[in-house]
Amino acid sequence: MLITIEGIDGSGKTSVWRMLRQEFPGFVFTREPTDSDFGRYVKAEIGKSRNPFFDLFLFMADHALHVRNVIEPAIREGKIVVCDRYIDSRIAYQGSALENTLDDPYEWIKKLHSWSRFPDITLLLDLSPEKAIERCGERASRMKFENVEFLKKVRDAYLRMAGEEERFVVISADRSLDDVFRDVKKTVTGVLSRNS
Ligand code: TMP
Repeated sequence: MLITIEGIDGSGKTSVWRMLRQEFPGFVFTREPTDSDFGRYVKAEIGKSRNPFFDLFLFMADHALHVRNVIEPAIREGKIVVCDRYIDSRIAYQGSALENTLDDPYEWIKKLHSWSRFPDITLLLDLSPEKAIERCGERASRMKFENVEFLKKVRDAYLRMAGEEERFVVISADRSLDDVFRDVKKTVTGVLSRNS
């Protein structure tokens, strides 16, 4: 089973992912961009890039290796995989960046991933961009996508997907991390008991 965690920067998803790792040590924990050499290269290049197509295809190349080398082998072994960012990050972020360039970039990016493994459950940590940026504090000035207008588009794209696809569980991130984590844990345990 593949569980993904999504949300705009500052939504607290990486903290939740780390807390889940403590709680469920038997699961496989991974993320995109990946921690591989190529993933680190992608992260560095994305920081410098001013081109959303370049970003999209670099993230996708990292994703292709990730699916083949990590996700699929773990799922074949019957493991539960929890991934911090995945395909939906491309749809939401690069889709928003390409909004004025293509007719329906969101759908186009989704189709570009049709060969891939889609998640079974996606936990969407939802927060307003204003709050998210406030939370990032000094880190916000170093973030590539720190702009409120852009993050609003990204959030809307996420919420649109959540309205269309059953695999999404929207969790309000406008609360203490402990409260958010309680809901996340409840959702994950519920999913596990339904699938056992
Ligand atoms: P992170 O802070 O969660 O590690 O993500 C790094 C940044 O990369 C974050 O601003 C979101 C962005 N990103 C995309 O724009 N598209 C993607 O496909 C992924 C995986 C990340």
